Amino acid sequence: MKIENTVVVVTGGLSGLGNACVEYLLNLRAKVAIFDLNAETSKMSVEHAATDDLIFCDVDVTNAEMIRLAISRVTAELGDIRACINCAGIAPGGKTVGRNGALAIEKFINVLNINLIGTFNVTRLIAESMSRLSPIDDDGHRGVIVNTASVAAFDGQIGQAAYAASKGGVASMTLPIARDLGPIGIRVNTIAPGVFGTPMMLGMHEDVRKPLEKAVQFPKRLGYPVEFAKMAAHVIDNNYLNGEVIRLDGGIRMAPK
Ligand SMILES: NC(=O)c1ccc[n+]([C@@H]2O[C@H](COP(=O)([O-])OP(=O)(O)OC[C@H]3O[C@@H](n4cnc5c(N)ncnc54)[C@H](O)[C@@H]3O)[C@@H](O)[C@H]2O)c1
Repeated sequence: MKIENTVVVVTGGLSGLGNACVEYLLNLRAKVAIFDLNAETSKMSVEHAATDDLIFCDVDVTNAEMIRLAISRVTAELGDIRACINCAGIAPGGKTVGRNGALAIEKFINVLNINLIGTFNVTRLIAESMSRLSPIDDDGHRGVIVNTASVAAFDGQIGQAAYAASKGGVASMTLPIARDLGPIGIRVNTIAPGVFGTPMMLGMHEDVRKPLEKAVQFPKRLGYPVEFAKMAAHVIDNNYLNGEVIRLDGGIRMAPK
């Protein structure tokens, strides 16, 4: 699907990987809507905030009503939504049994709620809106959705039971959702990033971050957020890519801790 003039929703677009996608897509002349917490009040912190091709929608991805309202607003202000990149997420750690006993089940549920259920919530409602649109090419394409898992879906570390479970869910629902939406002309793929230099990662203690950097095979550094954005743009652009989980990780295989 061509990117120029295409309307793309980016959840979590105020920060990190999502924000890199916003910048990259605007440079390719897409029209972009950021779905994020308190997006409207935070918009001045975002480069490109002044362009008419970018709008900010207050959306908590766990809240279906907020998503529906934002979809209507984007459609009215920018046009039909043809692509969505789901980057909203959180990554708190916590051992199954730690110093203070068993992990609070509320913490586990909260991670699942935002990372997994939030991703599905946006996916299902955006796909519903796409299903009402006319196909845009001879293949019958109506839209494309890019979700974000993590290499923790495959080799989660100590303290990552909740995060790995949420990302494992994002990875494993990729194929069934692609199968559900294929007949409607919507592609669904997932990117599983390794370790990238975003506020989420840079906010971690050095003792956690440095060993992760060392575990990258090559190049031996954190990924640049723009490298994620390039992959997300490629997934939108390449019509034959569907139902796939793509590791983007410099060859990292994470050790237990
Ligand atoms: N940075 C990495 O190394 C890395 C590695 C693997 C996977 N990921 C995944 O990539 C995604 C983006 O991570 P990042 O590093 O850019 O993080 P980040 O913390 O920089 O950005 C996350 C964004 O999601 C938003 N968000 C959080 N909860 C939300 C909610 N309920 N509704 C709407 N928006 C919400 C935040 O406000 C923030 O803008 C996450 O899903 C993360 O798990 C990141």
